[in-house]
Amino acid sequence: MKRIVIVGTQWGDEGKGKITDFLAQKADVVVRYQGGNNAGHTVVFHGKKHSLHLLPSGILNPNIQNVMANGMVINPKAFVEEIDKLQNFNLSISDRAHIVLPYHLELDKAYEHFRGNEKIGTTHKGIGPAYTDKSSRLGLRVSTFIDPEKFKARLFELMKVKNQELRKLGAPRFIAEEVYEEYLKYASVMAPYVKDTSVLLNQAIDDNKKILFEGAQGVLLCLDHGTYPYVTSSSPTAASVPLNTGIAPWLIDGAIGVTKAYTTRVGSGPMPSEILGDLANQIREIGNEYGTTTGRPRRIGWLDTVVLRHTKRISGLSYLAVTLLDVLSGIDELKIAVSYEFNGKTITDIPAEMSDFEACKPNYITMPGWKEDITQVKSFEALPVQAQNYLNQLCELVGVPLAIFSVGPDRSQTIQVKPIF
Ligand code: GDP
Ligand code: IMO
Ligand code: MG
Repeated sequence: MKRIVIVGTQWGDEGKGKITDFLAQKADVVVRYQGGNNAGHTVVFHGKKHSLHLLPSGILNPNIQNVMANGMVINPKAFVEEIDKLQNFNLSISDRAHIVLPYHLELDKAYEHFRGNEKIGTTHKGIGPAYTDKSSRLGLRVSTFIDPEKFKARLFELMKVKNQELRKLGAPRFIAEEVYEEYLKYASVMAPYVKDTSVLLNQAIDDNKKILFEGAQGVLLCLDHGTYPYVTSSSPTAASVPLNTGIAPWLIDGAIGVTKAYTTRVGSGPMPSEILGDLANQIREIGNEYGTTTGRPRRIGWLDTVVLRHTKRISGLSYLAVTLLDVLSGIDELKIAVSYEFNGKTITDIPAEMSDFEACKPNYITMPGWKEDITQVKSFEALPVQAQNYLNQLCELVGVPLAIFSVGPDRSQTIQVKPIF
C-alpha cells in the first residue's frame, strides 16, 4: 500500500498520533484532513512527549512533507502557538481550509450552555460553529484570510451577522477592528505555507510517494455515522479523505484502524460497555486517561466489538493497530462486548436513536488476563499467551488482521507484525 488512512475506530484518543508517527518513519507525506484543534495527538520518542493539535504528526521529522488539507478548520492563534515551538519542519496549508475565529469559540460555549442536560461536552474550540459557517456559506477561507484587504472586508461583513447572533445568545461580542488587528499578525505567519494542496498531493501521487492521511477523532464521533448528536462536526472516516484533500477516491489504498485495547470516551453520549467505579479509576490512572486537549478525565469501558465492526463497515479497515495493551496487565478477567440486548432481542448493529443505544446492554465474552509487565516486549511471541489470545480474539471478532500493537507511549514500544508500506 502507498496511500493509507489512519482511522480512529472508537471515540477518539486511540493513539492515532503515535501510529502516524511510527509509520511516518517510512512515509513521504503526512496529511491532516479534517477537524481542528479539538484533536490532541501525542507523539513520544527518545523519551520526549509532543502534543499536537493542528499540525500533522509527521511535523517532527523535517524529511516529511506535512499537509493541512482543505477539510480542516484552523484556529490561527492556536496554529501560531503550536508552530512557534518548532524549528525545522516542512509544511503546506490548503488555501481552501476554513478559519476558526474568536466568535466561533463563544458560539460553541453558548450553544453548549443552552443545551443544558443535553450537552455534547464539546472541547469549546469552536469546531461546530466553524463547520456550520462553512456549510451556510458564512465562512472565511485561508486564501481570503492571508490577503489583508480581502480579509478585512470579509471579516467586517461576517462580524455584523455574528455579533447579532452573539447578542441574542447573551454571549460576549467582538470589535471587528480589534479582531482584525490581532489576526492579521497570525495571517502573516501562516501565509508562507499556503498553497493549493490538492495540486501538491496529486503531484506526490504521480511521483509514487508514500502518503499517510491522519484522521482526527474516531468513527463514532463522525457527523454522519457516529452517535449523533454526540459527535464532532466533521467525518473522520476513510471515505472523507478524497473530498477533504482533493484527490480521487480510488487513489486510497487502505486504512489502518487504530484501536485502544479497551474503550474510552470524553464528552457525553452513550457508551454501552462503560465501566464505573474502582476498575475504571485503575485503568484511567494506569493509562493516563485524561484528555490531551482539555485535560478532562476520559470515561472507561471494555472493548466493544459491535463498535469496531460498525467502524469496519463504515470506513473499511485493512489492518488493526491495537494500542495501550500494557494498560490491561494485572486485570484478572477481561471482558469483550460481542452483541447487545435491546428490547428483548440480541442485536449486532448500533441503533440510530441515541435513547435506543443508551438502552443497549452488552453481551460479553470473558477472557483470562495476564499479570506480567509487557512494556518491554519486542515481539508478538514474547507476549504472555493470554495477551496473544486477547489480540487474536479481538481481530477475529472484528474480522480484520493485526498489523501493529503497542505496549507503551514511546515510538520504541510499538511493534509491527505485518508489513504495511
Ligand atoms: P490520539 O488522539 O488518537 O492521537 O491519541 P491521544 O494522544 O489523545 O491519546 C493516546 C494516549 O495514550 C497518549 O497519552 C499516548 O501517549 C498514550 N499511548 C499511546 N499508545 C500507548 C501504549 O501502547 N501504551 C500506553 N501506556 N500509552 C499509550
Ligand atoms: P483526537 O483526534 C476524543 C469529542 C468531544 C465531544 C465531541 C464534540 O484527539 O482523537 P467538538 O469540540 O469536536 O465539537 O466536540 O467530540 N472530541 C474528541 N474526543 N478525541 C478527540 O480528538 C476529540 N475531538 C472531539 O469531547 O464529545
Ligand atoms: Mg487525542
